[in-house]
Amino acid sequence: MCGIFAYLNYLTAVDRQSIADILTQGLKRLEYRGYDSAGLAIDGDSDGEVLIFKEVGKVASLQKLIQEQNTIDWTKTFTSHCGMAHTRWATHGQPSRINSHPHRSDTKNEFTVVHNGIITNYRELRLVLEKKGYTFESETDTEAIAKLAKYIWDSQKGNKTLTFTDLVKGVVKELEGAFAMIFKSVHFPNEIVATRRGSPLLIGVKTPKKLKVDFVDVEFGGIAEEIPAEVEGAPTTFSSLEVPKLRRSESRAFLSEDGLPQQIEYFLASDPSAVVEHTKTVLYLLDDDIANIREGELRIHRLRRDDGISSIRSIQTLEIELAEIMKGSFDHFMQKEIYEQPESVVNTMRGRVNFDTHKVTLGGLKTYLPTIRRCRRIVFIACGTSYHSALATRAIFEELTEIPVSTELASDFLDRKTPIFRDDVCVFISQSGETADTILAMRYCLERGALCVGVTNTVGSSISRESHCGVHINAGPEIGVASTKAYTSQFIALVMIAIQLSEDRTSMTDRRNEIIDGLHALPGHIKEVLAIDQELQRLARDVLHKEKSLLIMGRGFQHATCLEGALKIKEVSYMHSEGILAGELKHGPLALVDENMPVILIMTRDSLYPKVRSALEQVTARKGQPIIICNKGDDAINAESKTIRIPQTVDCLQGLLTIVPLQLLSYHLACLAGVDVDFPRNLAKSVTVE
Ligand code: M6R
Repeated sequence: MCGIFAYLNYLTAVDRQSIADILTQGLKRLEYRGYDSAGLAIDGDSDGEVLIFKEVGKVASLQKLIQEQNTIDWTKTFTSHCGMAHTRWATHGQPSRINSHPHRSDTKNEFTVVHNGIITNYRELRLVLEKKGYTFESETDTEAIAKLAKYIWDSQKGNKTLTFTDLVKGVVKELEGAFAMIFKSVHFPNEIVATRRGSPLLIGVKTPKKLKVDFVDVEFGGIAEEIPAEVEGAPTTFSSLEVPKLRRSESRAFLSEDGLPQQIEYFLASDPSAVVEHTKTVLYLLDDDIANIREGELRIHRLRRDDGISSIRSIQTLEIELAEIMKGSFDHFMQKEIYEQPESVVNTMRGRVNFDTHKVTLGGLKTYLPTIRRCRRIVFIACGTSYHSALATRAIFEELTEIPVSTELASDFLDRKTPIFRDDVCVFISQSGETADTILAMRYCLERGALCVGVTNTVGSSISRESHCGVHINAGPEIGVASTKAYTSQFIALVMIAIQLSEDRTSMTDRRNEIIDGLHALPGHIKEVLAIDQELQRLARDVLHKEKSLLIMGRGFQHATCLEGALKIKEVSYMHSEGILAGELKHGPLALVDENMPVILIMTRDSLYPKVRSALEQVTARKGQPIIICNKGDDAINAESKTIRIPQTVDCLQGLLTIVPLQLLSYHLACLAGVDVDFPRNLAKSVTVE
């Protein structure tokens, strides 16, 4: 998905080469999100000159393009400067230089913009602006934003007195869709305006001295009078004027002791991983905030005072370390993240599960437990891997709580306009907390009065902010596009919620204790599975690598493992793979089975073991030779069968172990296929469009 990074230095001398390096390094930190082209904008030598560089492919190609610019003085030093950069993931128009960001208002680059998200009314805007004489050069939705900024600027009567913030307010008023955007302009040198709606954006601050306060006041008010009124004869109408009602307040945090601006650097990004190496002091923008940085000061504006929106933005300290987001000794982030699971599962349970008293305490849910216990039903809503974690825990949730639980794919849930009521509890599971389908489903449920619970890995994400309550899974940053450790941590978080909800049911005490003991043993069990990695690598190389397709079968608690394993295999190795509920085998999929069809069957020791055994017989009767994922010491399995043997644990936790060999197999299949494992084609880590 697209990535935004910008750097503004004030009263801090930095040469042009270093500025370009900071910008491209910021983009490199965002590479994991997936992208197909990159670009940046920095100042030229003369007043009003902006240089834009764009390239298709990796950030390294952009760096090469920049290095080739011999006529530019890269040693020129700027005491104050604003530069911005972007990685693009094509949505409107092919990956190409012209479609890459930054986009510009005109050939003189008067306004430049980088944008994440989608402007849904860009066609109408484009039509209006073309009629007004503005010439478009790209196929993107973003270019309409830059042109609109110039249109508003050009339309001022008399002296041009519009501030940069008011100009952007005027732009934002016309936009529909989702966005995070940063603006730069030759009319406002060394100044930046950033805004967001439905797409994340944060601002890192670096000063030699500690900031005086840890918040910024929000300034509320309409747009200034200079913004043009409706465009005559246009197929869409631009909004009419609003009288300004500004409440001025001082951004005390950024001034020196004597109230004067001080040496300061700002790093703006769509993701904290691009900022953390420069500063850990950050502020997250909320939807519809408009941030302006000018002469060292950051001010936050909003068009109107909304009920329930805080009038300050807190300046927080980021808790991730750069080392945490680096690959370490592993070849790929995906591999590192699979191997991190013995630790990440502990982090998910830390401070929450007391293994001595067999008690679970989830601070984020505490005051809502009685409401949840009284609800009519629980609806799990998520996408992809997160959906699979919901499916994996649905049965134990129902067993422990005796509340009916349904699982919903967020996109389908919205498509169906599913009935939701005030006495429903809706649980939104999302690693990123920024998945558009899940966020929209959550807003839909909020509107209908349901209690909304977030289960996410990202503190400060839209889902964690907008839900009523929730649990952070604390799995640590997940960089690889393929979710691995997030799956196991989400799984555990949901099990912990079910345990806590059922604590008032004494009849469930033994079951709860058994599960908590299973959770205690989990890190050791995962390590045992990781220890058979070489065996799995050989299996991938010698048996599966050349195959076109792979079926993964199981039932009960293992159905979710089949779906998640198949998703991992197809997304990173591009091999077709299908997860099949073994109970459904005879209703169709059995037709695929013969001596040539590779099959993995999950047959662990739980109450459904005899039924899975019969599925095994159905497969072998058709000359299928499945690889069986089974428990260590299961002697009932034919000695000639190929097996992947894993430790046995409590039935409802067994999926936390059966998934690990499938994650490893998918990783090895991807490496053997020569796929860029962390950036599989056509995929992005955080899917912020519907
Ligand atoms: O961030 P989310 O958990 O909401 O993302 C939802 C899916 O896009 C995601 O789980 C996706 O299926 C996995 N990254 C695939 O490995």
